Amino acid sequence: MKTLAMPTLTIGNLNLKKPIIQGGMGVGISLSGLASAVADEGGVGVIAAAGIGMLEPDFRGDVAAANERALRREIRAARQKTDGIIGVNIMIALSDYKTLLRSALDEGADMIFMGAGLPLDIPNVIDPGQIRNGSARIIPIVSSARAAGIILRSWSRKQCFPAALVVEGPMAGGHLGFKREQLGDPDFSLQRLLPAVLEVTRTYEREFRVSIPVIAAGGIYTGGDIKEFLAMGAGGVQMATRFVTTEECDADIRFKESYIAAERDDMVIIDSPVGLPGRAVKNGFLRDVSEGRKKPFTCTWKCLRTCNFRKVSYCIAGALTNAKLGDLEGGFVFGGANAFKAKAITSVRDVFESLMAEYTQYAGAAV
Ligand SMILES: Cc1cc2nc3c(=O)[nH]c(=O)nc-3n(C[C@H](O)[C@H](O)[C@H](O)COP(=O)(O)O)c2cc1C
Repeated sequence: MKTLAMPTLTIGNLNLKKPIIQGGMGVGISLSGLASAVADEGGVGVIAAAGIGMLEPDFRGDVAAANERALRREIRAARQKTDGIIGVNIMIALSDYKTLLRSALDEGADMIFMGAGLPLDIPNVIDPGQIRNGSARIIPIVSSARAAGIILRSWSRKQCFPAALVVEGPMAGGHLGFKREQLGDPDFSLQRLLPAVLEVTRTYEREFRVSIPVIAAGGIYTGGDIKEFLAMGAGGVQMATRFVTTEECDADIRFKESYIAAERDDMVIIDSPVGLPGRAVKNGFLRDVSEGRKKPFTCTWKCLRTCNFRKVSYCIAGALTNAKLGDLEGGFVFGGANAFKAKAITSVRDVFESLMAEYTQYAGAAV
């Protein structure tokens, strides 16, 4: 059976063979291993900058230096492994996001995805000429049409435009840009958010004669899901959870196995110390925290600007580092609403082949 080709996606002057972006997964889940494997298949592989220096020997000393060094090293390692497109995900909430952004651009990252906050000051943080001439392809991640409008209005005053926008709905894994009560409300579903964001980007595309593809994210798991969102006008999709259960994913095997062991009801919403809800796989650590048991820690570096480290009952960076290393008693695993669907660990190539087959099947166009 021949598979139906997915449309390609152009971001700035880069042509993606497949309109699939691997979502950045912080604290060591998507590093050069996963990112290069996805890039090799024609998608965009994304290295996550959050907590990237946590495993460096001097992390407790000079944290900013450890983060920067590890990020530069991972970008170079990915480049050595693939000729494909490599991006970096940098959360605006990180205390050192400006240094990480400049370092990623300096290392030649093809695109930078910026979430967990409104990246309004980016045209001041880097030379706006780099955005205008397309050498810095910056892609904000938003969870509402309002946020998309605020970014576009602010950047357009400087004649700067995002290379694309990611719209992330409430089914995503990790931190979510919604209030708890919005998560199950159909008005906030990705199916509603995507057309609203497209309306905003199309206005700017017409007025300023620019191209701002919109990439849909959050709960997209199958080739059928990809077909659905492309048909609604998305230029591409961002998928994270589906890539966790691959051999190439940079997390410990126990992290990946927790997806395979999970049932639908095990996917829970937590109140993260960062001040946002998050979606994770239920476990003993999270039960302890929800029952009020504190997990003592000392904060040597306020990694997130929004973390109230004196009041929170555990250190999220520490918990996520433990999980990355396979210590699930000392931490927990973030995952999208569909994480429980994983049945086995496969290769990134297998994931792409399944996505193509599912896409073809959904289109009902097998030839
Ligand atoms: C383990 C994990 C870690 C994540 N870490 C980050 C991160 O560091 N920065 C970010 O912007 N998004 C992060 N996300 C969100 C993903 O990049 C992605 O947009 C989202 O999970 C998409 O939904 P999906 O997982 O259902 O495909 C994370 C998601 C997971 C599952």
